[in-house]
Amino acid sequence: MTYTKGLEGIVAAETKVGHVDGGKGQLIYRGHWAKDLAIHYTFEEVAYLIWHDSLPNSKELAELKERMKKERKLPSYILTIMDNLPQNTESMSVLRTCISALGDSSYSWPPTIDQAIKLTSITPTIIAYWFRKQNGLDYIAPNENLDHVANYMYMITGEVPTQNSVKSLSAYFVLTIEHGMNASTFSSRVVSSTESDMVSAICASIGAMKGPLHGGAPSGVIDMLEEIGSEDNIEPWVREKLENGQKIMGFGHRVYKTHDPRAEALKVVSEQIAGSDNWFKLILQIEEVTLKLLREYKPGREIYTNVEYFAAAVMKSINLPADLFTPTFTASRIVGWTAHVLEQSADNRIYRPESHYTGLIPEAVK
Ligand code: COA
Repeated sequence: MTYTKGLEGIVAAETKVGHVDGGKGQLIYRGHWAKDLAIHYTFEEVAYLIWHDSLPNSKELAELKERMKKERKLPSYILTIMDNLPQNTESMSVLRTCISALGDSSYSWPPTIDQAIKLTSITPTIIAYWFRKQNGLDYIAPNENLDHVANYMYMITGEVPTQNSVKSLSAYFVLTIEHGMNASTFSSRVVSSTESDMVSAICASIGAMKGPLHGGAPSGVIDMLEEIGSEDNIEPWVREKLENGQKIMGFGHRVYKTHDPRAEALKVVSEQIAGSDNWFKLILQIEEVTLKLLREYKPGREIYTNVEYFAAAVMKSINLPADLFTPTFTASRIVGWTAHVLEQSADNRIYRPESHYTGLIPEAVK
């Protein structure tokens, strides 16, 4: 039997949903380059592709959009739950709780695409409701005239977003919709392999996504940008962290040992939108200095800028508050999770790896 810490190098499933080639810096969704999809297709089109294994024709797309619009509204019991949660509950915990509460018998095994559509459609409304409540703002109901990403922004700000902002956030949504056998996706597949319901699987994924080493990095990147503040402070700040053995948020990836294609695509999109804004210049300067210092302190480790770094750039360009970064990541990745749950259920075998016991062995019974 083989043991590798963190299951590195172990193939845990066969999938047609997506493929990450970390060595080549490639990301494929159902036979398409993720980068191209992010530039040429909308969130709904790519979600359809991920669930159905083909891009939609115009009728299928229109039907999906209509279905999603119908499923955005929050049932009153979900509003009651949120209104009774302690004000200091983190938004990922609120999301996990509300998604869990949605899991009535209509979500029982086996999982379906319709369940996936329902969970994907309602997630942004839960996030936006809690965000506005925590900030003392009134709830903004979904806008029937807006598609998924634009409506998400609308429910947060109360304003119909500009085309540039929608383009930028849509690119982020598409580029983070799926990413192979990462911790949260693996969690859904494990739960689903017990023939538990889709809601339980998604709750496990949200729990995994909440951890700072997985989905929490963009907030860490923004904190870092704010702490560094100016060009002069970049090198001393990064050096101090590396001297103390700390990790720099937004750099490094378990799989990509070359450029992260998602970071590259988001860098292009944010360059188009942010142009020569001062904060964006600082982001580029911090990237350059950090990469140089990582080569110095961690020679041969192949650490590059990851998706979270430029996700922070996109979110800053559209003024999305840092508190919403991980929930927003969740709002896109839920498509990938649900597709994996569907795939797992179609050809299931319960996960049951072994463990290597390193404890004491009691004396043999006499
Ligand atoms: N800053 C500084 N050093 C880093 C680093 C970072 N962001 N990422 C990796 N390293 C170093 C580690 O300290 C380690 O050095 P060592 O060999 O001297 O001990 C080496 O690179 C390998 O690190 P390891 O943690 O084993 O890599 P991993 O592949 O298991 O981890 C991450 C990947 C993502 C967990 C890690 O890079 C990280 O914590 N990054 C910051 C958080 C982040 O941006 N997460 C979002 C990912 S999309």
